[in-house]
Amino acid sequence: MTSRRQFLQAAAAGTAWLVSRNSVLPAMAGQTAESRIDVLLNEPVGVIAPEIYSHFVEHLGGVVYDGIWVGKDSKVPNINGIRKQLVEALAKTKPGVIRWPGGCFADQYDWRDGIGPHRQRPQRTNFWVDAPEWPKNARRDGPQVYDPNHFGTVEFARFCKLAGAKPYFAANLRSLPAQEFWRWVEYCNAPQGSATLARQREADGEARPLNVEYWGVGNESWGCGGNFAPEDYAIEYRRFSAWVPSYGVPLKLVGSGPNGDSYDWTSRFFGKMGGSVTSMWGWALHHYAWNASAGRTTNWFQGKRDALSFNEEQHYELLREANRMEELITKHWKLMGEVDREHRVKLLVDEWGAWHAPGTEPFPEALVGQQNTMRDAVLAGLSLDTFNRHADKVAMANVAQLVNCLHSLFFAHEDKFCVTPTYHVFAMYAAHQGAQSLRTEFSTPAQAYSRNGQPTSLPGLAGSASIKGKQVMLTVTNQSLDQMRETQIALRGGTIKSVNAVTLVTDDVHAHNSFEMPNVVEPKTQAVSTQGSTLVHRFPPASVTKLEITLG
Ligand code: AHR
Repeated sequence: MTSRRQFLQAAAAGTAWLVSRNSVLPAMAGQTAESRIDVLLNEPVGVIAPEIYSHFVEHLGGVVYDGIWVGKDSKVPNINGIRKQLVEALAKTKPGVIRWPGGCFADQYDWRDGIGPHRQRPQRTNFWVDAPEWPKNARRDGPQVYDPNHFGTVEFARFCKLAGAKPYFAANLRSLPAQEFWRWVEYCNAPQGSATLARQREADGEARPLNVEYWGVGNESWGCGGNFAPEDYAIEYRRFSAWVPSYGVPLKLVGSGPNGDSYDWTSRFFGKMGGSVTSMWGWALHHYAWNASAGRTTNWFQGKRDALSFNEEQHYELLREANRMEELITKHWKLMGEVDREHRVKLLVDEWGAWHAPGTEPFPEALVGQQNTMRDAVLAGLSLDTFNRHADKVAMANVAQLVNCLHSLFFAHEDKFCVTPTYHVFAMYAAHQGAQSLRTEFSTPAQAYSRNGQPTSLPGLAGSASIKGKQVMLTVTNQSLDQMRETQIALRGGTIKSVNAVTLVTDDVHAHNSFEMPNVVEPKTQAVSTQGSTLVHRFPPASVTKLEITLG
């Protein structure tokens, strides 16, 4: 029997193979493929917002201190205190926006602590000080617990600029008055030399306005952001968002949306807001894939499983959780439309990703840090494809969180640095940004598996397609652990000139990168031969593929 490793070697060498039950055979020309993908070139869905490819950084564990901020005097190569290797690698993925400073941290953060000379900034106890997930051997006296506030507003704005992203601030609605929100906007956006806070910004090194457009009005206001009832949050939202000074910047205010399938939160907030809801630019859903227990528990701590060591059922269950995003988007969108009939308010998913059990932190102070395997890369690909397919609804999505944390693109500790498999997915998918999403039909046998003893299934293949000029991007995930999917791909309404395939796949779905072995998971590129308006491609198990198709 040909092993998965042999198959991968053959694929890399450009040999065509066809899976037949237990063996892998060379493919015969003209053989009927079991799967089909139809890309409908004349059926546009909407432009894919570059903001779908966005990020989230919170003062949580090793995200800011160590991950991003090393300080100007550090031996680690840095630009004004910001880790150079990180911004350079991040810039290559064309990040849309970066959300900061939280998360739950945001509703405990006083933005005034992060302005002025560093030596005068106060040291504050971090929101996460008592989190039960702290590894036992973590130092609890460093900046991850007692924040020196060296990374404040201008440092964050510079970080965004270096990475080529726009800043997205989350304002504190739980523990600061509305006036402090407006003052923060003033500090960021007031014209040079105008108000006292504009002069303070200049003293902090940024004479010109930062022109921050995106502002979150609270975070998880149903939970750590205040435990509000949706009607009460609507009243707070109105108070915070009334008459915010604009300084000529078209402010995009974001409401703290639902936790996963809390449809009640959306319908009651929109119901209370009524017609005034249309002054809100975006409504931010949060959804993490965390429960890999196959329905055995819904307990937040007991339902999670290990990031590295997982069995077949846990593999599929985590992906099942991520696949729920499709339904969450369509159902929340429908509820929003019952009040906002013209859909002027867009849906955001400003926290998403896998959340595993503790135990694989890249270093002890990286609270809720977790390893990132090929499974997480598949999860990232299928989530981004879901957002692309709903380009008419989803205006922004932020993977949580950028570095040393949950579904991270990077690990960075002292002078050590590496990218994760998920980084490669973001780099591969960047080509979708600003392109027109196309209706794309997948017809493929379902992936069957056993869920706590009961037969169930997931989509065999899933993906999205977009077009920009003559370039069509088709991205596809194969969630199966053992089925290679030979697929006939048809471009309805065009002919194909050439095709390039970029594939992220490993011979073990548990494969991951680490400081010691940073290049275990890397994409491979190969030319694909094709004729007319169809091609046949084989998607290997547990893989993410991008087909770059140039039209004739
Ligand atoms: O991303 C970690 C936490 O998850 C965020 O702080 C919070 O918003 C969410 O519950």
